[in-house]
Amino acid sequence: MSTIGKTLNQFIIESQRAFPDASGDLSGLLNDIGVACKQIAHLVTRSGISGLGGYAETHNVQGEPQKQLDILSHDIFVQQLGWTGHLAAMISEEIEDVISIPTRYPRGQYLLAFDPLDGSSNLDVNVSVGSIFSILRCPDSTTQPGMKAFLQPGTAQVCAGFTVYGPATVLVLTLGNGVHGFTLDRDVGEFILTHPNLRIPQQTAEFAINMSNQRHWDSPVEKYIGECLAGADGVREKNFNLRWVASMVAEVYRILMRGGVFLYPIDERIRQQGGRLRLLYEANPMSFIVEQAGGLSSTGEQRILELMPTELHQRVPVILGSSAEVARLIRYHQKPE
Ligand code: AHG
Ligand code: MN
Ligand code: MN
Ligand code: MN
Repeated sequence: MSTIGKTLNQFIIESQRAFPDASGDLSGLLNDIGVACKQIAHLVTRSGISGLGGYAETHNVQGEPQKQLDILSHDIFVQQLGWTGHLAAMISEEIEDVISIPTRYPRGQYLLAFDPLDGSSNLDVNVSVGSIFSILRCPDSTTQPGMKAFLQPGTAQVCAGFTVYGPATVLVLTLGNGVHGFTLDRDVGEFILTHPNLRIPQQTAEFAINMSNQRHWDSPVEKYIGECLAGADGVREKNFNLRWVASMVAEVYRILMRGGVFLYPIDERIRQQGGRLRLLYEANPMSFIVEQAGGLSSTGEQRILELMPTELHQRVPVILGSSAEVARLIRYHQKPE
């Protein structure tokens, strides 16, 4: 028995044994994702020294300026996962269309949607960034998967996870049976199970929202945040703390550790584009994780995991975290004042 604790690989293989008919493809894929995340962690840590923390002079399909590490992290995912035979296709924040698996490689039964580097605007200020991923089953094993194959609701996810590259690199995973966190032990090069069965506290006194958008908000969000700000002097009868890292991975990780609510709601400025965060590789995987940890996730009007996607890079409003707080926000959306 190892003295360093359970490795990610061990955890995955043991989980697979619960399903005697499993092909091992998902285990292989998760192992590949772990390797990709270790490579990205290495690049992120060294970006100040290597000079790779800056902009690339290109824009992605959403019109965002790309950092060099957005592109490099995307390349690592594609190179690490394309050849092993577990995937049928991928989509990434950084590429407009579906990424096909080269025909020289065997084709697997899964689809992967990923955000290679979340919060990349934080690279130059040395604040946590991360990678987010969502795994779906490929609905048709005969034809080359196109956009339609990816347009499945979040409830169809087989697995979702994210890695946060912070003071420690931690990979958080759900296979639909709870949420588990694995910390990278750089000395042995393995992710070690350090946070089994994460549960989000129901109540919280901490909220995360970009306050600079306040003048654009709709009334339910205005009301909720107003009450948090009024604290013990208002109807909530307790004081709240505000946090905004501008890396969703860091916010969700914090919520998994000690509760809280995260909002990137619809507002007047972004109403036309449907929201800020992307459904398939940000909102859906994070919603799956949050629900599996006992929290809730909603647009304010609908459960995110039940949305039927219509576009690969579709954006949605996101409200997630401690169940009592998200439930309150949903109530305010039902009865706006
Ligand atoms: P990405 O870096 O992958 O494009 O995503 C950034 C997202 C998310 O992580 C964060 O919550 C949000 O953008 C921050 O947006 P603002 O800069 O509008 O606060
Ligand atoms: Mn981006
Ligand atoms: Mn992102
Ligand atoms: Mn990104």
